[in-house]
Amino acid sequence: MSKTRTNVVFGIGNPNAKILFIGEGPGQNEDLTGIPFVGRGGKLLDKMLEEINLSREKNIYIANMVKCRPPNNRDPLPEEIDCCIDYLRCQFKIIRPKIIVCVGRIAAMRIIKNDFRVTREHGVWFTKKNVHIMGTFHPAALLRNPNNLPQAQDDFKKLKEKIFEVAPEIYE
Ligand code: URA
Repeated sequence: MSKTRTNVVFGIGNPNAKILFIGEGPGQNEDLTGIPFVGRGGKLLDKMLEEINLSREKNIYIANMVKCRPPNNRDPLPEEIDCCIDYLRCQFKIIRPKIIVCVGRIAAMRIIKNDFRVTREHGVWFTKKNVHIMGTFHPAALLRNPNNLPQAQDDFKKLKEKIFEVAPEIYE
């Protein structure tokens, strides 16, 4: 994928954030700008973050499973995720988040468990090495199927509750 990319899309946000969002991989707009989640899906994500008083500038960091755009926006292959996973591990080590939100199936299957099903397990908290991890709907999927939007908003409310529990200083 490095051969067909325009820009590497590494991540954006506050490196001191307590919350790490992990998406799938860059789409066309992200490839052109080098910034994660800048298309229509990104706007929706920003709106949902705003609803719980979070912003990518202030209190979260956003990364992706793969740093280069998969051709034609196909799902990244497991071996492509393997190629990029050490970058994500480094991002995790630097940020040391207390909370991780897996945005969509691809991130949740790799970070939470390989049989993760978004429709069944969105909004459920998992704990690994003292980090609280949740999977939720991908904004692109919400744009395709807005019926799931209320459930996704509920997931973000659960995120807000978890922040009050483990990192209340974020809202101070
Ligand atoms: N979808 C993702 O998963 N990540 C992006 O950065 C953009 C779209």
